[in-house]
Amino acid sequence: MLKKDWESLRAALGISIHPLQLGTWSVASRDLEDSAREELSETAKTALVALRGQLNGFSNPRQNPPRKQPPPAHTRRMRERLAGDLCLLDLWGSLSKDAPESSISELQLSLTHSQNLAVALGRVARDGQREEGIGIDLEFRNRKLIPNLLERITEHEERRFGLHALQVWTIKEACFKANRFNAGSAVTEHRIRDFDPETNSGKAVIGKLHFDFALTIWNDWYLTVARMNAPKHGLFLAP
Ligand SMILES: CC(C)(COP(=O)(O)OP(=O)(O)OC[C@H]1O[C@@H](n2cnc3c(N)ncnc32)[C@H](O)[C@@H]1OP(=O)(O)O)[C@@H](O)C(=O)NCCC(=O)NCCS
Repeated sequence: MLKKDWESLRAALGISIHPLQLGTWSVASRDLEDSAREELSETAKTALVALRGQLNGFSNPRQNPPRKQPPPAHTRRMRERLAGDLCLLDLWGSLSKDAPESSISELQLSLTHSQNLAVALGRVARDGQREEGIGIDLEFRNRKLIPNLLERITEHEERRFGLHALQVWTIKEACFKANRFNAGSAVTEHRIRDFDPETNSGKAVIGKLHFDFALTIWNDWYLTVARMNAPKHGLFLAP
C-alpha cells in the first residue's frame, strides 16, 4: 500500500473509531514483502518478547503452543509474523512517544493480516480500561467467499441489519480478538445486536460480555475495531 493510501486509511479509521473512546491509541501497518527484508536489533527482539506477551490469546499456551521450530523464512506465515513484529515495534514507538510514562505491560494490542498487509492496533490501557479488550480485523473486499457464508455465520435476527457476509465476518473476528475470555469460544458465537448504518458502528455480545465496534469501509478493505467492555463483576462470581 502506498504511503498516501495508508495515511488516508489511518485518517478514515481515526474518524470511525472516535466514538469507541479508546484513549491513547495508535495503529501501524507493514507490507509483508518489505518486512521480510528487515533485520531486527537485539534491543528490538527483547522488546518484541514483551510486546507479543501482551497480545490477546498469547497468554493461553493451549491456544498458542510454543513452536518446536519457527516456520521457514520463505513461507507466507513467516512473512506475516515478521510484518506483525514490525507493526508491534512501530506501535510501541508511537505510543511511548504519546504517553512517555507508559510501560509495555499497560498496552492492549491486536493484530491482523490480509493479502499483503499486516495492521496492528494498540492503546495504553488506563484505570477503568484494564479489564477491557481491543481487537482489529482486516478483510479484502474482493475476497472469494464460500457459498451461503452469511447464513452459516449469523442467526436470523442478525441479518436484519443488511450487512454483507464479509462485513459480518470482520465484525465477529474483531470482537473475538477483543474478547479476553475467548478460549473455547468460536468467532461466530459473537452475535451482532445493533448496527447503525449512519456511523457504521454497533454492538455485539457473547454470553454476558458486551462489545462496541466500528466498521471502516475504505477502498478495497473492511476494517473493524472492537472494544470488549469491562465485564460486570457477576461474571467472576462462583455460581
Ligand atoms: C484468531 C483468529 C480470529 C485469527 O483470524 P485470521 O483471519 O485467521 O487472521 P488475522 O490475520 O486477522 O489475525 C491473526 C492474528 O490474530 C491474533 N490472534 C490469534 N489468536 C488470538 C486469540 N485467541 N485472541 C486474540 N487474538 C488472537 C494473532 O495476533 C494473530 O497474528 P499473529 O499470529 O501473526 O500474531 C481465527 O483464526 C481463530 O482462530 N478463530 C477461532 C476459532 C474459530 O472460531 N473458528 C471458526 C469456527 S466457525
